[in-house]
Amino acid sequence: MFLDTDDEKILAGEYGETRQRMMELLVALGKVFDAEKMIPISSAQVSGASYKTIGDWGLEWLQGLDARVSVPAVLNPVGMARDRWQEMGISSEFADKQNQIISAFQRLGVKLECTCTPYYLNMVQYGDHLAWSESSAVSYANSVIGARTNREGGPGALAAALVGKTPYYGLHIVANRRPEVVIQVADAPKTQDTAWYGALGHLVGPLVGTRIPLFTGIRPSRDQLKALGAGMAATGAVALYHVDEITPETRVFHFDTTTLEAIPVEPASVDAVFSSQEVDAVAVGCPHCSPDELTRIAGLLKGKHTKKPFIVFAAKGVISAEQESVALIEKSGAKVYADTCMVVSPALERFNSLMVNSGKALAYVPNLCGGTAHLATLEECVAEATR
Ligand code: F3S
Repeated sequence: MFLDTDDEKILAGEYGETRQRMMELLVALGKVFDAEKMIPISSAQVSGASYKTIGDWGLEWLQGLDARVSVPAVLNPVGMARDRWQEMGISSEFADKQNQIISAFQRLGVKLECTCTPYYLNMVQYGDHLAWSESSAVSYANSVIGARTNREGGPGALAAALVGKTPYYGLHIVANRRPEVVIQVADAPKTQDTAWYGALGHLVGPLVGTRIPLFTGIRPSRDQLKALGAGMAATGAVALYHVDEITPETRVFHFDTTTLEAIPVEPASVDAVFSSQEVDAVAVGCPHCSPDELTRIAGLLKGKHTKKPFIVFAAKGVISAEQESVALIEKSGAKVYADTCMVVSPALERFNSLMVNSGKALAYVPNLCGGTAHLATLEECVAEATR
């Protein structure tokens, strides 16, 4: 693996012990994947920020680091809304540990935008090389924006943020971004709720595994693409997908798909992923809501009152920019929380059953929150919470 003079200096410890250790980690990673060199990145998104997922071991590891990030870096959701953890029912012991983790990241220069949708914060463009780690964020950056990132582990993304570079392999290389399987969606309904695309992703993930799919027969909006990628990343290991004539690389490159396996998907199989039924609580915003999604939720809740917990998750920056919608949502009794999410926070573990509108949450809630999850459209989520 080629290292330039600066890389060698970092590796020799000339820029401090933390950067040296981080470069050792990146070089080891590069060697495993036969990277030819290191490349500069424009930003990092670091997962492993909730005390629920990294525990005391992760906290100690972070507290042992002593350097500042070299590129803009943001955090994945943490285990609680930083300024509203008491009303979420978070214990003071958990909050104390979580705040120590947040302080450790802050000391490293990581911005406290704790979100899996950093692309709403104007920090990524087509062709950028990144070191992002949350699976749905990686999928969106690669597929919908046309940036280039592998699905980094939390330590790998943080190492890249501190060094400012990442090993050049995998999805950083254009030749590795070609589709490997075609998903033919027959007779897709024209006006589906975003949840339909989450269900499609949930269904297709295991069919494609680690392969790069190219979809035909669908014309999703950006929010629907977000839901599709999140679902596939959760049930498969899809870090990049293409949608014919929709996602940017299908318009930039010519992909010859004639020799690829084609898998047909019938809308009825997608519909079968839904299981709307009575639940203890409703949670939406996985991945975190876009401005449009907050507007839509506000419209559906206008003039209504929630009768059971209805919790909405979004990035702090998006919430600040959408104050009117957020106020309308909270007027109904629903809550809009920043910094955290339904999976990495322990707050939703008290519910035995959750209604969600996300194919990713459908996959993760049972394992990470303990209760059952049921997929429904946003309209059904609102109806269930206000019935
Ligand atoms: Fe984001 Fe949490 Fe879902 S990190 S994609 S809201 S599981």
